[in-house]
Order: sequence, then C-alpha cells, then structure tokens
Amino acid sequence: MYVLIAYATTDGQTRKIARFAADRLLSSGHAVELLNLEDAGGLDLARFDGAVLAGSLHAGGYQTALIRFARDQAAALALMPTLFLAVSLSAAGQDAEDWAGLRQCLADFEAETNWTPGRVEHVAGAFRFSEYDFFRSWAMRRIAEQKGETVEPGKDKEYTDWAALILALDGWIATLSPRLKAGAASAG
Ligand SMILES: Cc1cc2nc3c(=O)[nH]c(=O)nc-3n(C[C@H](O)[C@H](O)[C@H](O)COP(=O)(O)O)c2cc1C
Repeated sequence: MYVLIAYATTDGQTRKIARFAADRLLSSGHAVELLNLEDAGGLDLARFDGAVLAGSLHAGGYQTALIRFARDQAAALALMPTLFLAVSLSAAGQDAEDWAGLRQCLADFEAETNWTPGRVEHVAGAFRFSEYDFFRSWAMRRIAEQKGETVEPGKDKEYTDWAALILALDGWIATLSPRLKAGAASAG
C-alpha cells in the first residue's frame, strides 16, 4: 500500500509518533510519504491508498494546520481509508471526565472540519519540558501536580504506549486495499 502520514506538532511528540508510524508501515512492506502539515500545499490525495493524520491537543483544540488540511481535503479524505492519531495527555489516564473531554474535542474537530475519520486512535503524548518556555513550563508543572504526576525540572516524561500504537496501525492497514490510480488502468 502507498500511505500518507501527515502530522501537526507543537512540541515534537506527534512528530515522533508519526515517524514511528512511518517506520512501522515501512518495515511491514508499505510505501509511506511522511508530511508535516505546515507544508501540505498542492497535495493530491488520490495518489494514496490510505491516509494517517495526526495532531495533538493544546488547550482543547488541535493544530490549525491539521484543521485547515482536514477541512480543505474533507471530500477527498471521505473517499479513502483514514486513521486519525489524536495525541493528548488526557489519553494517558483513565479519568472519565478527561475521556469525556477527549470525545468532545473530537466532536468539535469533526464539526469544524466536516471530516469524520474512518478510525480514531487516542494516543497518549508527553510532557516536553525541554521544549517549553518559562510560562508553559510553569503551567504544565501545575497540571502534572494536579494529576499526581511527578516531573523533574527540564526533563521530558513520555506516556506514549508504542505497543498499542503498533496494534492500531497493523489493524488499520490490514483493512486497506489498493486503489486504482488515474492513468494506472491495466492494459489487459
Ligand atoms: C500548552 C499545552 C496545552 C495542552 N492542552 C491539552 C489539553 O487540553 N488536553 C490534553 O489532553 N492534553 C493537553 N496538552 C498535552 C499535549 O497534547 C501533549 O503534551 C502532547 O504530547 C503534545 O504533542 P506535541 O508535542 O506533538 O505538540 C497540552 C500541552 C500543552 C503544552
């Protein structure tokens, strides 16, 4: 299969997740285009058999580049198998209120873009203190405290469950079949 993996990231964890997904699909024999959504101009989705989109939650919303791409390409995305990797810290825990919040953020995203992903995998992200400025570092330390998480000054803390991500990717890719590309019709 020929798969697009398109991601938006603020602090780098979603980029790491997208690269991991690309490596996984490559190692199982698929062809992959890895794309930062800041640079998605002119992309023709008809070239791909399926698309993985990834972005992370920041103050209840996903990145503008992801929203813009999903909205602009909603019609093309609806015609192909898609997987949305929705990265957040809420997905790291079992708090019912946090998960209700995740579902609401997803519903808002779908309403805003007019795109309903074929599959959604909520992926736990990371505290990336090495990337935060003073104020975000302070705010994220407070959030960590509220959640009862211990964090060390300046040190990142990762919650991503890589084994669960492999299962999600393998399960999704197994549902794909090659699309007949324009100009690639068999000569007989
Ligand atoms: C300023 C800020 C706001 C955040 N807001 C949320 C949020 O509303 N809900 C949530 O579950 N996680 C939230 N997070 C956690 C991020 O989704 C998580 O750190 C993720 O790994 C970020 O991915 P990125 O490094 O690709 O940007 C927030 C993180 C930061 C730094």
